[in-house]
Amino acid sequence: MGKVFAITSGKGGVGKSTVSAGLSLAFSSLGKKVLLVDMDEGLRCLDLMLGISNEVVLDLSDILGGRDINDATYNVKENLFLVPAPLKTGLIDAFSLANFANQAEGMYDIVIFDFPAGIDFSLYSSLPESTLFLTVAFPDSVTIRDATVVSGLLAENGFKSRLIINRFDYKLSKRKYYKDIDAIIDESQLQLIGIVPTSEKLQLLSVGQNLKSKDKSIKALTRISKRLMGEHILLPKIKKI
Ligand SMILES: Nc1ncnc2c1ncn2[C@@H]1O[C@H](COP(=O)(O)OP(=O)(O)O)[C@@H](O)[C@H]1O
Ligand SMILES: [Mg+2]
Repeated sequence: MGKVFAITSGKGGVGKSTVSAGLSLAFSSLGKKVLLVDMDEGLRCLDLMLGISNEVVLDLSDILGGRDINDATYNVKENLFLVPAPLKTGLIDAFSLANFANQAEGMYDIVIFDFPAGIDFSLYSSLPESTLFLTVAFPDSVTIRDATVVSGLLAENGFKSRLIINRFDYKLSKRKYYKDIDAIIDESQLQLIGIVPTSEKLQLLSVGQNLKSKDKSIKALTRISKRLMGEHILLPKIKKI
């Protein structure tokens, strides 16, 4: 059985899709067979980020409506596959999603669901019980508070979650623009799984640019993917993130 991850946040625009795409690329570089599922119905974007938008004909709604899983699964590169989101809203139902998620879990080493902002417990409940939720937040007080609320609600409803801090900037942190990472962890009681720096290269993902493994953000995403596979990888010194 593969490992299933669900990417969430309270606020939009915190980098869920960027982190989802980046993590998928990192896992696939580690030799894992990865399925990325774009859950942002109406606001589909991962096909663009991963450079396959021209190929897309069918999407998640077709699988949920009875088509074979492979009919709407697109090969991005080697062992990385994508199921695009429906272009219209209201087409993802919890019951069919549960069947799809179970099947996907059996076919892939890693399945990543990129959810839209906000919480949808009816859809979350249809994912396999082992699903780990990854809440994405910026390092500032406003989004951390928001992530704390999301993670609290996830915990209250029996879901396991971890925090990914995205768009960390050492210069801003030195100028005390954010609280330090230890204070964030202490206050929010969130379990941090990794920190992704602000990166121009990662930003270029949204125009379909390929990622280079030397970029700091890719190194950070690779560390996160290894931790998610159970490896003990220390956080580098803040300056090196
Ligand atoms: N670590 C990062 N460094 C630089 N830009 C980023 C980073 N993460 C996300 N972005 C940019 O922020 C914007 C929103 O990201 P996106 O992944 O679409 O957010 P969400 O899925 O949470 O709405 C995009 O323009 C993306 O390129
Ligand atoms: Mg998104």
